[in-house]
Amino acid sequence: MADVKIAPSVLASDFGKLADEIRAVDQAGCDWIHLDVMDGHFVPNLTFGPPIIQSVRQASAKPFDAHLMVSNPDRLLETYQKAGADIITVHAEVCDHLDRTLAQIRELGCRAGVSLNPHTSEDCLRYVLDRLDLVLVMSVNPGFGGQSFIPTVIEKIARIRDMLGDRDVDIEVDGGITPETAPAVVQAGATALVAGSAVFKGGTVESYRQNMQAIRDSVKDL
Ligand code: DX5
Ligand code: ZN
Repeated sequence: MADVKIAPSVLASDFGKLADEIRAVDQAGCDWIHLDVMDGHFVPNLTFGPPIIQSVRQASAKPFDAHLMVSNPDRLLETYQKAGADIITVHAEVCDHLDRTLAQIRELGCRAGVSLNPHTSEDCLRYVLDRLDLVLVMSVNPGFGGQSFIPTVIEKIARIRDMLGDRDVDIEVDGGITPETAPAVVQAGATALVAGSAVFKGGTVESYRQNMQAIRDSVKDL
């Protein structure tokens, strides 16, 4: 399973030197940069928004994977695109008009993603399958890094893989991903793995490289 993508979540990085941390995971060989946007409303925590994304955009040429944990994503979609997001993922739980939101993300030239909280059924994807580029399956309750993986999502990933058929849609899994939990989600059909605390340990490019390699090694023989 050599082509699983690794998306380090900068939530676990040192925000005091965010651009340097992004450069470091880029050099260490990540595939995407996962940006956790939190609004203090949809989730209890607050992080950053478009101005900060824009200010670190020059730190890496790799795709910026913006995970919007916000209650009203529609009104700022274009702002995120202009700030440099390549993938924009919204939460199904807050989108009254999910079909339209996904169409708008693609019209902006970005890849369109939907995220599902651990308790949210995959049924809401059924009629937007052709609008999707990515499904972000939350394997923790969003809002904080360093939480424990919730194993019930493994079955959900497999169901989503079935629903997608032969569509070219990534299934990305987010929360509690480590070399121990990665194999089960990849086996179920995940093609991209978000990892925060499992990657940003050690504080150096070399340690980030080793941390990502440990995740890649755990899934390479599947
Ligand atoms: C949680 C975020 C995750 C988080 C993952 O709300 O969406 O991206 O940073 O962190 P770990 O890998 O530490 O569970
Ligand atoms: Zn995330």
